[in-house]
Amino acid sequence: MTVLGIESSCDETAAAVVREGDEVLSSVIYSQVPLHRPYGGVVPEIASRSHIEKIRGIVAQALADAFPGEPDPWARIDAIAATCGPGLAASLLVGWTAAKGLALALGKPLLPVNHMHAHLWSVRLDHPERRTEALYPQLGLAVSGGHTCFVDCPEPNRFRLMGQTIDDAAGEAFDKAAKLLGLGYPGGPVIDRMAKAWRNGPLREKPLVVFPQGKVAPDHPLPEGLRPELCVSFSGLKTALLTHVRKTPPQGEDEVAHLCASYQEAIVAALAKRAEAALGGGRYRSFAVGGGVSLNGRLREALDRVAERHGVRLLTAEPRYCGDNAAMIAGLASAGGALPCDDPLALDIDPSLPV
Ligand code: KG4
Ligand code: ZN
Repeated sequence: MTVLGIESSCDETAAAVVREGDEVLSSVIYSQVPLHRPYGGVVPEIASRSHIEKIRGIVAQALADAFPGEPDPWARIDAIAATCGPGLAASLLVGWTAAKGLALALGKPLLPVNHMHAHLWSVRLDHPERRTEALYPQLGLAVSGGHTCFVDCPEPNRFRLMGQTIDDAAGEAFDKAAKLLGLGYPGGPVIDRMAKAWRNGPLREKPLVVFPQGKVAPDHPLPEGLRPELCVSFSGLKTALLTHVRKTPPQGEDEVAHLCASYQEAIVAALAKRAEAALGGGRYRSFAVGGGVSLNGRLREALDRVAERHGVRLLTAEPRYCGDNAAMIAGLASAGGALPCDDPLALDIDPSLPV
Protein backbone atom coordinates (compact mmCIF):
# COMPACT_ATOMS: atom_id res chain seq x y z
CA MET A 1 0.00 0.00 0.00
CA THR A 2 1.32 3.44 -0.96
CA VAL A 3 0.01 6.29 1.16
CA LEU A 4 0.23 10.05 0.96
CA GLY A 5 0.46 11.42 4.51
CA ILE A 6 -0.22 14.93 5.75
CA GLU A 7 0.90 16.38 9.10
CA SER A 8 -0.03 19.82 10.44
CA SER A 9 -0.63 19.33 14.17
CA CYS A 10 1.70 22.06 15.41
CA ASP A 11 4.25 24.22 13.58
CA GLU A 12 5.43 21.96 10.76
CA THR A 13 3.56 21.65 7.47
CA ALA A 14 4.55 18.26 6.11
CA ALA A 15 3.61 15.76 3.41
CA ALA A 16 5.17 12.42 2.51
CA VAL A 17 4.66 9.32 0.43
CA VAL A 18 5.44 5.99 2.09
CA ARG A 19 5.12 2.43 0.80
CA GLU A 20 4.56 -0.64 2.98
CA GLY A 21 5.12 1.05 6.32
CA ASP A 22 8.77 1.96 6.13
CA GLU A 23 9.81 2.73 2.55
CA VAL A 24 9.85 6.52 2.41
CA LEU A 25 9.53 7.69 -1.21
CA SER A 26 9.42 11.35 -0.25
CA SER A 27 9.20 13.50 2.86
CA VAL A 28 8.78 17.26 2.68
CA ILE A 29 8.75 19.39 5.83
CA TYR A 30 8.24 23.12 6.04
CA SER A 31 9.19 24.33 9.50
CA GLN A 32 7.57 27.50 10.83
CA VAL A 33 10.18 27.93 13.57
CA PRO A 34 11.47 31.27 12.19
CA LEU A 35 7.90 32.65 12.28
CA HIS A 36 7.44 31.76 15.95
CA ARG A 37 10.95 32.52 17.17
CA PRO A 38 10.28 36.20 17.98
CA TYR A 39 7.52 35.07 20.38
CA GLY A 40 9.54 32.34 22.11
CA GLY A 41 6.89 29.71 21.38
CA VAL A 42 4.25 28.62 18.88
CA VAL A 43 1.53 31.21 18.21
CA PRO A 44 -1.56 29.22 17.11
CA GLU A 45 -3.00 31.90 14.78
CA ILE A 46 0.31 32.32 12.96
CA ALA A 47 0.67 28.53 12.73
CA SER A 48 -2.71 27.89 11.12
CA ARG A 49 -2.36 30.77 8.68
CA SER A 50 1.02 29.50 7.58
CA HIS A 51 -0.31 25.92 7.18
CA ILE A 52 -3.02 27.25 4.88
CA GLU A 53 -0.47 29.09 2.76
CA LYS A 54 1.93 26.18 2.45
CA ILE A 55 -0.08 22.98 2.39
CA ARG A 56 -0.86 22.78 -1.34
CA GLY A 57 2.74 23.38 -2.36
CA ILE A 58 4.09 20.90 0.18
CA VAL A 59 1.70 18.15 -0.96
CA ALA A 60 2.56 18.81 -4.61
CA GLN A 61 6.27 18.65 -3.77
CA ALA A 62 5.90 15.35 -1.90
CA LEU A 63 4.15 13.81 -4.91
CA ALA A 64 6.70 15.17 -7.39
CA ASP A 65 9.61 13.92 -5.25
CA ALA A 66 8.07 10.47 -4.87
CA PHE A 67 7.31 9.96 -8.57
CA PRO A 68 9.64 12.12 -10.64
CA GLY A 69 8.57 12.45 -14.26
CA GLU A 70 5.35 10.55 -13.66
CA PRO A 71 2.48 12.17 -15.65
CA ASP A 72 -0.20 11.16 -13.12
CA PRO A 73 1.40 10.65 -9.70
CA TRP A 74 -2.02 10.54 -8.01
CA ALA A 75 -2.68 7.24 -9.74
CA ARG A 76 0.13 5.71 -7.67
CA ILE A 77 -1.46 6.69 -4.34
CA ASP A 78 -3.76 4.13 -2.67
CA ALA A 79 -4.96 6.26 0.25
CA ILE A 80 -4.64 9.65 1.93
CA ALA A 81 -3.69 9.74 5.63
CA ALA A 82 -3.55 12.72 7.95
CA THR A 83 -3.12 13.60 11.60
CA CYS A 84 -6.51 14.16 13.23
CA GLY A 85 -5.11 14.75 16.75
CA PRO A 86 -3.71 15.54 19.23
CA GLY A 87 -2.40 19.03 18.53
CA LEU A 88 -3.45 22.65 18.03
CA ALA A 89 -7.05 22.79 16.81
CA ALA A 90 -6.61 25.39 14.09
CA SER A 91 -3.44 23.69 12.83
CA LEU A 92 -4.91 20.17 12.79
CA LEU A 93 -7.92 21.47 10.92
CA VAL A 94 -5.83 22.57 7.93
CA GLY A 95 -4.14 19.22 7.26
CA TRP A 96 -7.17 17.10 8.08
CA THR A 97 -9.47 19.21 5.87
CA ALA A 98 -6.95 19.14 3.03
CA ALA A 99 -6.81 15.35 3.33
CA LYS A 100 -10.61 15.14 3.31
CA GLY A 101 -10.77 17.26 0.18
CA LEU A 102 -8.18 15.16 -1.61
CA ALA A 103 -9.80 11.87 -0.61
CA LEU A 104 -13.20 13.10 -1.74
CA ALA A 105 -11.97 14.53 -5.04
CA LEU A 106 -9.84 11.50 -5.90
CA GLY A 107 -12.24 8.87 -4.57
CA LYS A 108 -9.51 7.36 -2.38
CA PRO A 109 -9.74 6.09 1.21
CA LEU A 110 -9.11 8.61 3.99
CA LEU A 111 -7.12 7.35 6.99
CA PRO A 112 -7.10 9.24 10.32
CA VAL A 113 -3.86 8.93 12.30
CA ASN A 114 -3.06 9.64 15.94
CA HIS A 115 0.05 11.84 16.02
CA MET A 116 1.47 10.11 19.12
CA HIS A 117 1.11 6.63 17.61
CA ALA A 118 2.94 7.94 14.56
CA HIS A 119 5.86 9.26 16.65
CA LEU A 120 6.29 5.72 18.00
CA TRP A 121 6.15 4.31 14.46
CA SER A 122 8.86 6.73 13.28
CA VAL A 123 11.58 4.30 14.45
CA ARG A 124 10.57 1.99 11.60
CA LEU A 125 11.04 4.49 8.77
CA ASP A 126 13.92 3.64 6.41
CA HIS A 127 14.61 0.51 8.50
CA PRO A 128 13.14 -2.37 6.46
CA GLU A 129 15.31 -4.82 8.45
CA ARG A 130 13.15 -4.06 11.49
CA ARG A 131 10.18 -5.73 9.71
CA THR A 132 11.40 -9.19 10.51
CA GLU A 133 12.84 -8.57 13.96
CA ALA A 134 10.98 -9.63 17.10
CA LEU A 135 10.16 -6.19 18.51
CA TYR A 136 6.95 -6.86 20.44
CA PRO A 137 5.86 -6.43 23.18
CA GLN A 138 7.36 -2.96 22.81
CA LEU A 139 7.71 -0.11 25.27
CA GLY A 140 7.15 3.27 23.61
CA LEU A 141 8.22 6.71 24.73
CA ALA A 142 7.05 9.77 22.82
CA VAL A 143 8.88 12.91 23.94
CA SER A 144 8.20 16.16 22.15
CA GLY A 145 7.31 19.79 22.68
CA GLY A 146 3.72 18.84 23.43
CA HIS A 147 3.91 15.36 24.92
CA THR A 148 5.79 13.01 27.19
CA CYS A 149 4.21 9.60 27.41
CA PHE A 150 5.11 6.01 28.12
CA VAL A 151 3.09 3.60 26.04
CA ASP A 152 2.62 -0.15 26.20
CA CYS A 153 2.53 -1.73 22.71
CA PRO A 154 1.79 -5.45 23.12
CA GLU A 155 1.65 -5.92 19.34
CA PRO A 156 1.89 -3.69 16.26
CA ASN A 157 -0.80 -0.99 16.12
CA ARG A 158 -1.98 -1.46 19.70
CA PHE A 159 -1.19 1.35 22.10
CA ARG A 160 -2.02 1.71 25.79
CA LEU A 161 -1.00 4.79 27.76
CA MET A 162 0.82 3.88 31.01
CA GLY A 163 2.38 7.16 32.07
CA GLN A 164 2.60 10.78 31.05
CA THR A 165 3.54 14.25 32.22
CA ILE A 166 1.01 15.79 34.56
CA ASP A 167 1.96 19.32 33.45
CA ASP A 168 4.70 20.40 31.00
CA ALA A 169 6.10 18.14 28.30
CA ALA A 170 9.86 17.45 28.28
CA GLY A 171 10.38 19.61 25.17
CA GLU A 172 8.36 22.39 26.76
CA ALA A 173 10.65 22.18 29.82
CA PHE A 174 13.66 22.63 27.52
CA ASP A 175 11.98 25.50 25.68
CA LYS A 176 10.94 27.35 28.84
CA ALA A 177 14.42 27.03 30.38
CA ALA A 178 16.05 28.38 27.23
CA LYS A 179 13.67 31.32 27.23
CA LEU A 180 14.47 32.01 30.87
CA LEU A 181 18.21 31.87 30.15
CA GLY A 182 17.83 34.06 27.06
CA LEU A 183 18.99 31.30 24.71
CA GLY A 184 16.20 31.58 22.11
CA TYR A 185 13.69 29.16 20.64
CA PRO A 186 13.44 26.20 20.33
CA GLY A 187 15.35 25.47 23.53
CA GLY A 188 16.14 21.76 23.24
CA PRO A 189 18.85 21.97 20.58
CA VAL A 190 20.57 24.97 22.26
CA ILE A 191 20.57 23.37 25.72
CA ASP A 192 21.83 20.11 24.20
CA ARG A 193 24.67 22.06 22.56
CA MET A 194 25.48 24.09 25.68
CA ALA A 195 25.54 20.93 27.82
CA LYS A 196 28.03 19.37 25.39
CA ALA A 197 30.13 22.54 25.61
CA TRP A 198 30.12 22.20 29.41
CA ARG A 199 31.45 18.65 29.15
CA ASN A 200 34.47 19.89 27.23
CA GLY A 201 34.77 23.27 28.96
CA PRO A 202 36.65 24.71 31.93
CA LEU A 203 33.84 23.97 34.45
CA ARG A 204 33.56 20.26 33.60
CA GLU A 205 34.84 19.29 37.11
CA LYS A 206 32.26 21.49 38.86
CA PRO A 207 29.45 19.29 40.21
CA LEU A 208 26.11 19.81 38.48
CA VAL A 209 23.33 21.66 40.28
CA VAL A 210 20.82 19.09 41.49
CA PHE A 211 17.36 19.92 40.14
CA PRO A 212 14.16 18.02 41.03
CA GLN A 213 13.38 15.00 38.86
CA GLY A 214 9.63 15.48 38.74
CA LYS A 215 8.38 12.72 41.00
CA VAL A 216 4.59 12.34 41.02
CA ALA A 217 3.19 11.46 44.45
CA PRO A 218 1.70 7.93 44.59
CA ASP A 219 -1.61 9.43 45.74
CA HIS A 220 -1.75 12.10 43.00
CA PRO A 221 -5.12 11.74 41.19
CA LEU A 222 -4.44 10.26 37.75
CA PRO A 223 -6.65 9.07 34.91
CA GLU A 224 -7.45 5.39 35.18
CA GLY A 225 -4.77 2.98 34.06
CA LEU A 226 -1.84 5.34 34.58
CA ARG A 227 1.00 4.26 36.87
CA PRO A 228 2.32 7.09 39.10
CA GLU A 229 5.90 5.78 38.86
CA LEU A 230 5.67 6.22 35.06
CA CYS A 231 4.26 9.74 35.32
CA VAL A 232 6.37 12.85 35.61
CA SER A 233 6.01 16.53 36.45
CA PHE A 234 8.30 19.11 34.86
CA SER A 235 6.75 22.35 36.08
CA GLY A 236 8.64 22.29 39.40
CA LEU A 237 11.91 21.92 37.52
CA LYS A 238 11.34 25.16 35.65
CA THR A 239 10.49 26.95 38.92
CA ALA A 240 13.64 25.50 40.55
CA LEU A 241 15.72 26.89 37.69
CA LEU A 242 14.08 30.30 38.02
CA THR A 243 14.75 30.37 41.78
CA HIS A 244 18.35 29.27 41.23
CA VAL A 245 18.98 31.92 38.56
CA ARG A 246 17.51 34.66 40.74
CA LYS A 247 19.69 33.65 43.68
CA THR A 248 22.86 32.87 41.72
CA PRO A 249 22.75 34.51 38.30
CA PRO A 250 25.17 32.68 35.98
CA GLN A 251 28.22 34.76 35.05
CA GLY A 252 29.38 34.23 31.51
CA GLU A 253 28.87 31.48 28.95
CA ASP A 254 30.66 28.73 30.89
CA GLU A 255 28.34 29.11 33.86
CA VAL A 256 25.28 29.15 31.59
CA ALA A 257 26.58 25.96 29.97
CA HIS A 258 27.02 24.40 33.41
CA LEU A 259 23.44 25.32 34.28
CA CYS A 260 22.16 23.91 30.98
CA ALA A 261 23.96 20.63 31.64
CA SER A 262 22.45 20.49 35.14
CA TYR A 263 18.95 21.17 33.88
CA GLN A 264 19.25 18.69 31.01
CA GLU A 265 20.55 16.07 33.44
CA ALA A 266 17.41 16.41 35.58
CA ILE A 267 15.15 15.82 32.54
CA VAL A 268 17.27 12.92 31.31
CA ALA A 269 17.40 11.33 34.76
CA ALA A 270 13.63 11.73 35.18
CA LEU A 271 12.93 9.96 31.88
CA ALA A 272 15.58 7.28 32.41
CA LYS A 273 14.15 6.49 35.84
CA ARG A 274 10.65 6.00 34.38
CA ALA A 275 12.08 3.87 31.59
CA GLU A 276 13.85 1.77 34.21
CA ALA A 277 10.56 1.26 36.06
CA ALA A 278 8.68 0.38 32.85
CA LEU A 279 11.29 -2.11 31.66
CA GLY A 280 11.59 -3.60 35.15
CA GLY A 281 8.96 -6.28 34.66
CA GLY A 282 11.05 -7.89 31.90
CA ARG A 283 8.08 -7.92 29.53
CA TYR A 284 9.50 -5.97 26.61
CA ARG A 285 11.61 -6.91 23.61
CA SER A 286 12.28 -3.40 22.36
CA PHE A 287 12.02 0.21 23.47
CA ALA A 288 10.95 2.71 20.77
CA VAL A 289 11.65 6.37 21.44
CA GLY A 290 10.30 9.10 19.14
CA GLY A 291 9.63 12.85 19.12
CA GLY A 292 11.80 15.94 18.89
CA VAL A 293 13.39 15.48 22.31
CA SER A 294 14.66 12.04 21.28
CA LEU A 295 17.30 13.94 19.28
CA ASN A 296 18.97 14.77 22.60
CA GLY A 297 22.38 13.14 22.76
CA ARG A 298 22.46 12.67 26.54
CA LEU A 299 18.94 11.24 26.60
CA ARG A 300 19.84 8.66 23.92
CA GLU A 301 22.94 7.68 25.90
CA ALA A 302 21.02 7.29 29.16
CA LEU A 303 18.12 5.34 27.62
CA ASP A 304 20.54 3.12 25.74
CA ARG A 305 22.19 2.23 29.04
CA VAL A 306 18.84 1.44 30.71
CA ALA A 307 17.72 -0.68 27.74
CA GLU A 308 21.01 -2.56 27.66
CA ARG A 309 20.74 -3.34 31.36
CA HIS A 310 17.37 -4.95 30.69
CA GLY A 311 18.50 -6.79 27.56
CA VAL A 312 16.08 -4.74 25.44
CA ARG A 313 16.84 -3.10 22.09
CA LEU A 314 16.58 0.67 22.02
CA LEU A 315 15.06 1.83 18.73
CA THR A 316 15.39 5.50 17.83
CA ALA A 317 14.23 7.21 14.67
CA GLU A 318 16.55 8.60 12.03
CA PRO A 319 17.12 12.27 13.00
CA ARG A 320 15.02 13.50 10.03
CA TYR A 321 12.01 11.62 11.46
CA CYS A 322 12.38 12.63 15.14
CA GLY A 323 10.63 15.99 14.88
CA ASP A 324 7.19 16.35 13.37
CA ASN A 325 7.04 14.90 9.86
CA ALA A 326 4.49 13.28 7.57
CA ALA A 327 6.48 10.14 6.77
CA MET A 328 5.53 8.76 10.20
CA ILE A 329 1.86 9.48 9.42
CA ALA A 330 1.93 7.85 5.97
CA GLY A 331 4.15 5.04 7.27
CA LEU A 332 1.88 4.06 10.14
CA ALA A 333 -1.23 4.30 7.94
CA SER A 334 0.34 2.15 5.21
CA ALA A 335 1.17 -0.45 7.88
CA GLY A 336 -2.49 -0.63 8.94
CA GLY A 337 -2.10 1.59 12.00
CA ALA A 338 -4.65 4.29 11.19
CA LEU A 339 -7.50 4.75 13.69
CA PRO A 340 -10.51 2.52 13.08
CA CYS A 341 -13.30 4.70 11.69
CA ASP A 342 -16.46 3.87 9.73
CA ASP A 343 -16.94 7.29 8.20
CA PRO A 344 -13.68 9.27 8.17
CA LEU A 345 -15.18 12.03 5.99
CA ALA A 346 -17.51 12.80 8.89
CA LEU A 347 -14.74 12.59 11.49
CA ASP A 348 -13.65 15.83 13.13
CA ILE A 349 -10.21 16.66 14.48
CA ASP A 350 -9.62 16.05 18.20
CA PRO A 351 -7.01 18.38 19.76
CA SER A 352 -6.80 16.21 22.89
CA LEU A 353 -7.05 12.80 21.21
CA PRO A 354 -5.71 10.30 23.75
CA VAL A 355 -3.15 7.55 23.05
O1 KG4 B 1 8.39 16.44 17.90
P1 KG4 B 1 8.61 17.91 17.80
O2 KG4 B 1 9.30 18.44 16.58
O3 KG4 B 1 7.26 18.69 17.89
C1 KG4 B 1 6.23 18.38 18.75
O4 KG4 B 1 5.42 17.47 18.44
O5 KG4 B 1 6.21 19.04 19.82
O6 KG4 B 1 9.41 18.35 19.11
C2 KG4 B 1 9.86 19.66 19.31
C3 KG4 B 1 10.53 19.72 20.67
C4 KG4 B 1 10.90 21.14 21.07
O7 KG4 B 1 10.42 21.37 22.39
C5 KG4 B 1 12.41 21.14 21.05
O8 KG4 B 1 12.99 22.01 22.01
C6 KG4 B 1 12.72 19.69 21.36
O9 KG4 B 1 11.74 18.97 20.67
N1 KG4 B 1 14.07 19.30 20.90
C7 KG4 B 1 15.05 18.87 21.73
C8 KG4 B 1 16.19 18.66 20.90
N2 KG4 B 1 15.84 18.94 19.62
C9 KG4 B 1 14.54 19.33 19.63
N3 KG4 B 1 15.07 18.70 23.04
C10 KG4 B 1 16.22 18.28 23.60
N4 KG4 B 1 17.36 18.06 22.90
C11 KG4 B 1 17.39 18.23 21.55
N5 KG4 B 1 18.52 18.01 20.87
ZN1 ZN C 1 5.05 15.67 17.46
